[in-house]
Amino acid sequence: MEKNETKERTLSRREALEWVARAAVVGCLAVHTCDVFAEEKAGGAKGLNLKDLKDIGGGSAASGSGYVVVKTDKGVAAFSDVCTHRGKNIKVDGTKGIFCPAHGSQFNADGSVKKGPAKEGLSWLKLTLDKDGNVSVDTKSTIKDGTWTPLPDAKK
Ligand code: FES
Repeated sequence: MEKNETKERTLSRREALEWVARAAVVGCLAVHTCDVFAEEKAGGAKGLNLKDLKDIGGGSAASGSGYVVVKTDKGVAAFSDVCTHRGKNIKVDGTKGIFCPAHGSQFNADGSVKKGPAKEGLSWLKLTLDKDGNVSVDTKSTIKDGTWTPLPDAKK
């Protein structure tokens, strides 16, 4: 082979799929990062609407970026989405309710532990709720456990 000869190489199907997968991961990270920055630009408050909550049995809930919002007959609450077992992010779904996908801990609608290995409940976060059901969560401010915010129609 001569010194200046270029060695052509074709990608195998597997290599091509790996590149596509890598590009997809980078794209998803970029979109997620933009969403987080958009929320941060809005004054550090993060939020959703009560209409976004899904039934979890005993209440309804949804997770956002860094928080979980729950509505029960006691009112509305927001919890940190950091699992008290080993710090993984909490998720919400209609079957498992508020749960940690890492080791299977589950939490009740009041943030207390329903099933371990977590031993402590989730941290309650400060929130504001407007008359239209928009919830704004301050993920940097914890409040006393059990501090429910009354529902908009209960405020009248
Ligand atoms: S980190 Fe959540 S159960 Fe282990």
